[in-house]
Amino acid sequence: MTAIVLLGPPGAGKGTVAEILVEQGFEHVSTGELLREQIRLKTKLGLEAAQLIEKGLLVPDGVVVGMIHSLFDRAEKGKKFLFDGFPRTLAQAIKLDELIAAVGGTLSDVILLECEDEVIIKRLSGRRTCEKCGTVYHITYNAPASGDVCDVDGGRLKQRSDDAVDTIQKRLDIYAERTAPLIGYYRDKGLVHVVDATLSIAEVRAAVFERVGK
Ligand code: AP5
Repeated sequence: MTAIVLLGPPGAGKGTVAEILVEQGFEHVSTGELLREQIRLKTKLGLEAAQLIEKGLLVPDGVVVGMIHSLFDRAEKGKKFLFDGFPRTLAQAIKLDELIAAVGGTLSDVILLECEDEVIIKRLSGRRTCEKCGTVYHITYNAPASGDVCDVDGGRLKQRSDDAVDTIQKRLDIYAERTAPLIGYYRDKGLVHVVDATLSIAEVRAAVFERVGK
């Protein structure tokens, strides 16, 4: 089993880039999406997570690791995981190393999407997501063909509740404090490949594909 981590601030384009690697057989594991699914299902975990996510805070490590843990039960030989939004703290990174080692797997690459705060604020405040299928758009950079309607299934496009400007700033602060230290952690292991995420969607996807898609 091999794994890749997509690292980068909120709104750098991790989910957007992930699409191209899914086409190459990677299983996309977004802890944000797993948590939003629990919120949609109104589970106890989802209701507790919603309160933290709306404030731009992190969900406790134990909860997130618990969700990831079961993936490794079916981490058969040849499996390729793409982690997006996980790990986000040093404790999560250490746990991921342990889980990978326990199944004899390898963390092959950490793709760091670098992007300035001003670009991120424009991206997140213009992001819209299909409430049916989850396809992500941007009102300027990646607009749907018609109004607030999804090109894929005609679903209504919505703004995420944590994409309010104050909450975006909080998420950026937490990224700097809790997640950015992982860059040094993975650099020491020689795994980090930096991609300029301020480029166009096509250019960022091409740079990531060049590194890990072949
Ligand atoms: P999560 O869903 O993981 O949010 P995030 O990391 O903040 O990242 P986003 O999904 O906001 O952005 P993205 O980088 O995927 O960008 P996207 O491709 O959509 O987590 C949400 C919350 O859940 C967290 O705040 C936390 O509370 C909790 N959580 C999740 N994981 C956790 C964990 N491990 N531990 C604890 N808590 C956890 O792109 C953004 C926009 O820009 C889109 O509109 C897109 O169309 C546009 N765009 C993308 N790329 C480009 C480009 N190159 N040029 C122009 N526009 C672009």
